[in-house]
Amino acid sequence: MSNPTLENLQILARESLDSIEASRDADELEMLRVRYLGKKGIVTEQLKLIPTLEPVDRKDFGQSVNSLKQKLNQAIKTRSESLARDAIESQLVSEELDVTLPGRYGTAGSVHPITRTITRMQEIFDGLGFDVAEGPEIEDEFYNFDALNIPAEHPARAMHDTFYVDDSRVLRTHTSPVQIRYMEDHTPPLQVVAPGRVYRCDSDITHTPMFHQIEGLSVGEGVTFGHLKGVLTHFLQAFFEADLKLQFRPSYFPFTEPSAEVDISCVFCGGNGCRVCKQTGWIEILGCGMVHPAVFKHVKIDSEKYTGYAFGLGVERLAMLRYGIDDLRMLFENDVSFLAQFH
Ligand code: FA5
Ligand code: MG
Repeated sequence: MSNPTLENLQILARESLDSIEASRDADELEMLRVRYLGKKGIVTEQLKLIPTLEPVDRKDFGQSVNSLKQKLNQAIKTRSESLARDAIESQLVSEELDVTLPGRYGTAGSVHPITRTITRMQEIFDGLGFDVAEGPEIEDEFYNFDALNIPAEHPARAMHDTFYVDDSRVLRTHTSPVQIRYMEDHTPPLQVVAPGRVYRCDSDITHTPMFHQIEGLSVGEGVTFGHLKGVLTHFLQAFFEADLKLQFRPSYFPFTEPSAEVDISCVFCGGNGCRVCKQTGWIEILGCGMVHPAVFKHVKIDSEKYTGYAFGLGVERLAMLRYGIDDLRMLFENDVSFLAQFH
């Protein structure tokens, strides 16, 4: 604006006030301030033109420029305040918090079905007067095999699909070694159960490589197979809260004689045969028998004076039958939606 006329000043006033009003943020407003009112700003430049005017016009023109300066300062201040208000408002909208929304609650965990089953089993044996013992999961071959009358080269070693840790130690293949450890430390009469993890190289819908057993052992004078049958029948009826069909099937374990395995009528097919019971109508849940004299010999118990029975129950098999789980492997996949059903 080279011509310092009042007319031009009016045009400048309209243009500058309009653009201040239209500015969208603090940065743009500051840019406009510098453009009009800065040291080299358009309005400031007008003042420098005063000396080129006719002396009579100078006063009016100077006053008009000063008044424009004031108007612009005021307009910038007003616009700046309104932009700040807008900014706060939009922040409030974007950060709005609805205090009436329902809260999010953490979900409570539950006891794993295997732990639950073990607790339930222990409670029943506790009621029958059994003590509780534990043994190591990494076990000497001696306790896992030799002391149980399973010498090296015995075919029963192959039956167990053993995981070896080194030359003389294994991941125990059953809880029976706890029998030996307990009899080393206690004298008859004794009654004990020993729950724990065992390991075998085995996997399908009724077998997992790690599973749980509860070992039972009772030694005293005059202990018979009749006691064993009575205790197991009572235990199974208490556990399942039902009058179940059981079968004691003659079997073989090197550490018991005579030996038996107990099957329970398959709950999935009512005994008609299905994929879970491999079409037999029965599911094997335990092995048992009368303690072999060779085992007593290892722990220096007089087999002329004492007799005893022992059993080894499969915990997963019992959990599967009680809770209707048709694939054992689900118990160890830790799928929360599966486990949450056991609340
Ligand atoms: C034994 O392990 C013997 N120690 C049991 C025993 C103890 C006999 C005391 C006599 C005196 P067996 O290998 O059959 O036996 O296993 C016992 C139970 O463990 C089986 O009946 C079954 O219920 C369970 N079981 C065996 N293998 C598996 C597996 N891979 N996964 C889940 N459960 C299994
Ligand atoms: Mg078996």
